[in-house]
Amino acid sequence: MKTVISPNTGIKPVTATVNARGHLEIGGCDTVELAEKFGTPLWILDEETIRLSAAACLKGLKGYPDARVLYAGKAFLCTAMCRLIDKLGLGLDVVSLGELHTAANARFPHEKTYLHGNNKARAEIEEALKQGINIVIDSFDEAKYVVQCAAAVGATAKVLIRVTPGVEPDTHQHIKTGQHDSKFGLPLESVPELARFISTSKNMELRGLHAHIGSQSGDVEPYLKVVDILADLIDGLKKEHNIEISDLDLGGGLGIAYTEKDRPFPMFDWSHAVSERVKQAFSQRGLSLPVLMLEPGRSIVGTAGVTLYRAGYRKTMGNQTNYLGLDGGMADNPRPITYQAEYTACVANRMNAQKPVDPITLVGRYCESGDIIIKEAYLPADSGDLLAIFATGAYNYSMASNYNRTPRPACVLVANGQADIIIERESIDDLVRQDRVPDRLAEGTHQ
Ligand code: LLP
Repeated sequence: MKTVISPNTGIKPVTATVNARGHLEIGGCDTVELAEKFGTPLWILDEETIRLSAAACLKGLKGYPDARVLYAGKAFLCTAMCRLIDKLGLGLDVVSLGELHTAANARFPHEKTYLHGNNKARAEIEEALKQGINIVIDSFDEAKYVVQCAAAVGATAKVLIRVTPGVEPDTHQHIKTGQHDSKFGLPLESVPELARFISTSKNMELRGLHAHIGSQSGDVEPYLKVVDILADLIDGLKKEHNIEISDLDLGGGLGIAYTEKDRPFPMFDWSHAVSERVKQAFSQRGLSLPVLMLEPGRSIVGTAGVTLYRAGYRKTMGNQTNYLGLDGGMADNPRPITYQAEYTACVANRMNAQKPVDPITLVGRYCESGDIIIKEAYLPADSGDLLAIFATGAYNYSMASNYNRTPRPACVLVANGQADIIIERESIDDLVRQDRVPDRLAEGTHQ
């Protein structure tokens, strides 16, 4: 079989090249021209990388009778992204009214949308019920509210129960979710009671079980463990409680490469290994195969993203640290300051320049000492250069803020030499649009 490209293993987008002018090119677009046309900071998303990631995930599931890939919108979502993932045949996992609204704005199919969250707002549940969107239940209290609300709107809620399987991937503490004390999901032993409640409730249909153990996991083993745990649980529900589970959603969390040190598990191998284990585990227990769902976010969009920054001032400190200031930082990429995440960069306008002897630290422009994008990189970068930071497609735009009252950057989708804005740059006026001034503070009134 032809090798399947799993773009989560490469730091750069699959289309990244250096053109005859010595510039970084992505999706057939010269990044220097993109920066001139759209300004910096700029998020670039490479469509081909997203397409190949989705294809790799789906291909790994080819041998499984009924499997679906639900893209986790929290990694990166906007209307165009919803359209793209619909075209690629993926479903969607959403966690807020904003994400639901974005999906609706893109006319994303309701039956392929799943609402998650450990403390969903009532408005989110009501909206999901009205639209016929699947709901992943996180607590008994929530189930009670969903059934009440479903009765009120005359709907039948299609639900899954989120389970905490007690499996921990090897990742940053803040992004583990499968451990016993996680704030997400229900302990295994509480599932039968909730399953019985749902199965006996009018206006609620129990479709399946869901587990998501964490994010940026480099290994497939924890997923295989989860399959066995959930297969046992489903077996018990059937034999001891006569409850049939038809859907099994194993969440997302597959890691990507941010630096040369990272060795992520390839997307194709991940979905293939997990689906094979489901086949094995369910047939061993004499259970019929469930509809299988996976929810990758980062591994679909992470390495598709590149951030362009213009370098500003440079200075050398007494201890010989060289700092180069960027025109963005923690407001458009909060991952280094939040998770000590490491990134890889290049000088996009001088790709063939020699590596320097001394390292340079790329710092953001925000008022926090921790706003450092890359520590000690051997980059031939100077004031005025265009810096490209790779693997910023996931959890950058979606976690961006207006810290220090800076507008959020624009995002362009590149493909075959064409660059289209999919998120407009915020303007300086957008920053004061929601501001209101009480009368007592009006101009000209002195106390
Ligand atoms: N499904 C569920 C229920 C989730 O909670 C998540 C991520 C995913 C799927 C997708 O995980 P992914 O494949 O993208 O790893 N802000 C953090 C990541 C938080 C992930 C939250 N949940 C970061 O920047 O690393």
